[in-house]
Amino acid sequence: MDQSQKKLIAAKASLDYIHDDCVLGVGTGSTVNELIDLLPSIKEKIQAVVSSSLATTTRLESLGFEVSLLNSVGDIDVYIDGADEANKHFHLVKGGGGALTREKILAGAARKFVCIIDDSKQVGMLGKFPLPIEVVPMAQSFVARKMVKMRGQPIWRENFVTDNSNHILDIHNLKITNPVEMETRINQIPGVVTVGLFAHRPADVLLVASDTGVRVMENK
Ligand code: 5RP
Repeated sequence: MDQSQKKLIAAKASLDYIHDDCVLGVGTGSTVNELIDLLPSIKEKIQAVVSSSLATTTRLESLGFEVSLLNSVGDIDVYIDGADEANKHFHLVKGGGGALTREKILAGAARKFVCIIDDSKQVGMLGKFPLPIEVVPMAQSFVARKMVKMRGQPIWRENFVTDNSNHILDIHNLKITNPVEMETRINQIPGVVTVGLFAHRPADVLLVASDTGVRVMENK
């Protein structure tokens, strides 16, 4: 099975978590795009849908969904999103698509966070995938110097502006041995909007697609 087929079966498996009258949060990326394309088949179950990016909003609207604002719906019942890396503690690296800030807000507002990945994203230690950090543009170099002190190699994501009009630094070669502690440390740097480490609010469910099917892992 190739990676795009795995993304599709992970997305299909996540439909089981969408219950009647569901206030659904939708993430961003190619795995989530597979999910979005399946949503019309269960449209009657969805009371409201909230989006994590302009790209996701556009795709949802093209399929006839009216996208609600988080401020209008209150908490989210189920948030479904992909990830760039996941460890066995359900900690994630996210932000490869640059939507990490709104993704982290929706994950934080969700009663249940279902993460859909293929098995290439499962890692022993986070950090092989460069860690995205959304920064206020004027603080970009300052934050980059701080990250060098933390033994990372920051690379500015050129010609990319987030939905919140900010920049992204991708931090290479970090050894993330303690994701919770590192998330806290990076959050404290002035100018950091969001770090793409999802450790304080990990996934509740990981749906991991492989050649043998989808493995359901629950964070208990
Ligand atoms: C976007 C994200 C995505 O969830 C992550 O990059 C995974 O994307 P894909 O499903 O395309 O591999 O965090 O900001």
